[in-house]
Amino acid sequence: MSEADTRPCYWGVVPAAGLGERMGAAVPKQYLELAGQTVISHTVQRMLDWEFLQGLLVALHRDDKWWPQQAVASDRRVETVVGGDQRCYSVLAALKALGGRAAPQDWVLVHDAVRPCIRREDVESLRTGLEQDAVGGLLALPVAETVKRADTDGRVEATLDRQGLWLAQTPQMFRYGQLLDCLQVALDNDEQVTDEAAAIELAGLQPRLIAGAGSNIKITMPADLATAEAWLARGE
Ligand code: C5P
Repeated sequence: MSEADTRPCYWGVVPAAGLGERMGAAVPKQYLELAGQTVISHTVQRMLDWEFLQGLLVALHRDDKWWPQQAVASDRRVETVVGGDQRCYSVLAALKALGGRAAPQDWVLVHDAVRPCIRREDVESLRTGLEQDAVGGLLALPVAETVKRADTDGRVEATLDRQGLWLAQTPQMFRYGQLLDCLQVALDNDEQVTDEAAAIELAGLQPRLIAGAGSNIKITMPADLATAEAWLARGE
């Protein structure tokens, strides 16, 4: 077998099945307009520009009626799957849909539909940083602010030491077989996993943190759209 035959493939998974209730909008936040397109169109178009991806699985809400209107929906590398009630179940559904195609050693990059400003250079840092890694990892940002923990009354209970604290972003990049197994075990055990790294950590493994960019924001609140628009206008 030649080296090319044994080289792992790369797959993209886009959890996009959320309703984005914190946004308070009539449409889910991934379908809000951002610089003339929807948020999800920016995200998926950027991922389609990553020519190393073999295919892209987008997890949609079962009642989604907006996706077919997106130009990226007709790209031959894009497929959809029905997501779940939490982000982790949406990711699991997409991973299962890759069964029979993805090899256990293949890499999967999971990227939120609502992070439209992801830069090519940061994805390249992720790939380069993890190429020889046994576990995988994620883009993240060191915490710059002073961090407080609140009590139930909204008063400061403690000031945390920010040394060594990072904010997790996406893409998160793990081996297909390991991610599928860890996520399945975590969910079977009713563990709360808000990102892929958390599932890997529950298996006793330590994902690597790769420094990303502040522009890779997650659209959560209405003001985030203006921030994202400003980043896109700056060519991010
Ligand atoms: O709600 P939050 O900002 O954490 O969502 C992050 C990403 O996960 C979004 O792209 C959202 O569409 C997706 N998601 C999902 N399935 C859910 C909830 C969220 O795919 N049940």
